[in-house]
Amino acid sequence: MSSLFCIIVIVWCKLRLGSALEDYEYVSAIGDPGMKSPNVRVGLEAWNFCNEVGQEAPNMGSPRLADCTDLYCHSITDQFGSPQHDYGRNCEVHHKVNESDNRLRAGDGFPSADYKSYTDPDLYAVEKELYLASLCNVRDSSEPWQFWMIMLKNGNFDKNTSLCPENGKKVSKIITGRKFPCFGEGCMNQPLIYHNPSRAISSGAQIFTLTGGFYGTYDLDANLSQGIGNSSYFSVSWQKNLSTGGWVFSHTLTTSSKYPWLMLYLRADATKGFNGGYHYDGRGIMRKLPESPNFKVKLTLSIKRGGGSNSQFYLLDIGSCWKNNGDPCDGDVLTDVTRYSEMIINPETSSWCRPDNLISCPPYHVSLHGEIIYRNDTSRFPYSAYHLYCSPGNALYSEKPFDICDPYSNPQAQELVQLLPHPEWAVHGYPTKKGDGWVGDPRTWVLDVGAISSRLYFYQDPGTKPAKRVWTSINVGTEIYVSSEGETAEWTVSDFDVLVPETVTHDGVVVY
Ligand SMILES: *[C@@H]1O[C@H](CO)[C@@H](O)[C@H](O)[C@H]1NC(C)=O
Ligand SMILES: *[C@@H]1O[C@H](CO)[C@@H](O)[C@H](O)[C@H]1NC(C)=O
Ligand SMILES: *[C@@H]1O[C@H](CO)[C@@H](O)[C@H](O)[C@H]1NC(C)=O
Ligand SMILES: *[C@@H]1O[C@H](CO)[C@@H](O)[C@H](O)[C@H]1NC(C)=O
Ligand SMILES: *[C@@H]1O[C@H](CO)[C@@H](O)[C@H](O)[C@H]1NC(C)=O
Ligand SMILES: *[C@@H]1O[C@H](CO)[C@@H](O)[C@H](O)[C@H]1NC(C)=O
Repeated sequence: MSSLFCIIVIVWCKLRLGSALEDYEYVSAIGDPGMKSPNVRVGLEAWNFCNEVGQEAPNMGSPRLADCTDLYCHSITDQFGSPQHDYGRNCEVHHKVNESDNRLRAGDGFPSADYKSYTDPDLYAVEKELYLASLCNVRDSSEPWQFWMIMLKNGNFDKNTSLCPENGKKVSKIITGRKFPCFGEGCMNQPLIYHNPSRAISSGAQIFTLTGGFYGTYDLDANLSQGIGNSSYFSVSWQKNLSTGGWVFSHTLTTSSKYPWLMLYLRADATKGFNGGYHYDGRGIMRKLPESPNFKVKLTLSIKRGGGSNSQFYLLDIGSCWKNNGDPCDGDVLTDVTRYSEMIINPETSSWCRPDNLISCPPYHVSLHGEIIYRNDTSRFPYSAYHLYCSPGNALYSEKPFDICDPYSNPQAQELVQLLPHPEWAVHGYPTKKGDGWVGDPRTWVLDVGAISSRLYFYQDPGTKPAKRVWTSINVGTEIYVSSEGETAEWTVSDFDVLVPETVTHDGVVVY
């Protein structure tokens, strides 16, 4: 076992998923298949309400950080040439990212001339992510990768500011009847973020592994060294499961009266291009992009605390971007549309899509065999398979009745298809009924995300060629939606992998 941790091996993890219907050989699409790497590759990003920075937190720098740490172990041999068993003595820990890098703030120059400094905190954060990624870059194949991404988002929105555009359009004044939490000026602040840099720990059997984490709070007046008190709180730490050799990411998220709506996800983002929810180049861990209908996601999810009745826990949130005419996004926020689909596994989440509330249903459901069932077909439409559907704010031909998605919480228009556990989806490996996989029911899931996502309705202008559904972000975590009192969610994620067919990229090009 110890050699697993002490020798750096580059393994092409190939696994055959036995299904009589499929002839594909699946390979991992990510840089750290199944989270088995002995090294740490973790990035962190914090977003305001519209996925930007707005203003940096005092003394905190730009909210992009990373912990990228290599563990080098060599077994030394004794005078007779036999390996000694005391491997641990010969391990070294190499931090690729210095704390001085993590503290970089808008206006600072980067240590490398390849990255441009900006005084605008939004532009600076984009550049800082690229810079940190360059330090973390792993070139173990022709497709380099950078890191897992921890994403934190504050759901407060101050309508008196013009920080967020409306469906991508800059507006000088926000006029809307929609209600958003905000305790007053400054409510859209970035968090205080602290770092426990990865360090080596040994277990009884002289096995050396790394452990570390990030934690913090949105309450700028909190002093966490005196305890969390009633402050908001988040924490993500990583350590190895010694029996599997895989990383276990442990998460905690607590809301507070000032910060009643918070999100914390572990993201597998594309190593380049626009990740879900962005309008600029990002970095990540998915070196091949999964495309519907042929890809799967494997993960072990263990939820210890659910986070209250409004905790929209996502057993995957998948994100992508395409225009209403089906073209891929190009960064033009007026016509790009973020597309999200999420399965919410909190059993307290109800179906807003109902026969008496068709406005929250997609126009139709596609059955397993491809039959289209309209939402007005009340005897056959599976209402309880959906939490809600909402239409992109810039769609010109949405089918009535429709609700548009929140126009402010993304840098551009967005479309949401939110699912609930249901036999309709269970055929793809998803939970069948409410409560499956919830608190006290840890499970290892093999989700046929490709199949499910190819069955979902997404808006397109009439007569346009269907978009290629290529997913740039696959996330797991929770969005604790506005809660009247502080709520806490606690969970671990391990064994994460994204599996794609070996031979075909999203361009249809054979790679091997
Ligand atoms: C990190 O700090 C060390 C020691 O000061 C320095 O040698 C190294 O170049 C720094 N690395 C980066 C990426 O700035
Ligand atoms: C926004 O402006 C209104 C009117 O001036 C004021 O009553 C309200 O408190 C302000 N909201 C915030 C969050 O500052
Ligand atoms: C936070 O609390 C610790 C321990 O009580 C104290 O030493 C420290 O000065 C406090 N920090 C601030 C910023 O008040
Ligand atoms: C937290 O809030 C509760 C209820 O408002 C209050 O009783 C308690 O004293 C608070 N605790 C701290 C540490 O502020
Ligand atoms: C480690 O892996 C084993 C085997 O899959 C599992 O039973 C155990 O719960 C895991 N431990 C943690 C801390 O995740
Ligand atoms: C149901 O909806 C479809 C699609 O919008 C429409 O063509 C059909 O007329 C509707 N049927 C009824 C009974 O309203």
